[in-house]
Amino acid sequence: MDASPTRRLLIANGPNLNLLGSREPDVYGHHTLADVEQLAAETAAGLGWDVRCVQSNHEGVLIDAIHAARSDCAGIVINPAGLTHTSVALRDALSGVGLPVAEVHLSNVHRRERFRHHSYVSPIAELVITGAGINGYRYAIQQLIGVVSAGGGQRRH
Ligand code: DQA
Repeated sequence: MDASPTRRLLIANGPNLNLLGSREPDVYGHHTLADVEQLAAETAAGLGWDVRCVQSNHEGVLIDAIHAARSDCAGIVINPAGLTHTSVALRDALSGVGLPVAEVHLSNVHRRERFRHHSYVSPIAELVITGAGINGYRYAIQQLIGVVSAGGGQRRH
């Protein structure tokens, strides 16, 4: 058995984030999904880690990617997008695999419509970063790697 710890994170982006750059730039900024994924890869590489990136507009595809992460990832950074506010199934997948989770939102969801204030994911996340734009992914990766490297991130629920 390989005793070396897995130094990989799953970076998951939910519905409509493929439109980043052209989608409501006043809310989400001008960076594209490719920019986000490059930033994630560079941030992780700087710490000696790597990433697997997935974006999907389909809940089931995201759930399958979360399940697959169980075998070769040490944590999950996820922007669940609209599924944040609606999906018990996505939350169940995240808590089901037991990997530490960082939840990221580009916009500050608490400054927006009321329906965005509730997240199904936040109660099971190690950390939540909202409103820092694409830098939120950088902060989340740095923090999650710190938590995992310190031996933390075990689920308390
Ligand atoms: C988002 C915020 C969500 O409310 C919204 O549905 C998104 C993007 C963000 O990154 O700010 O699609 O997760």
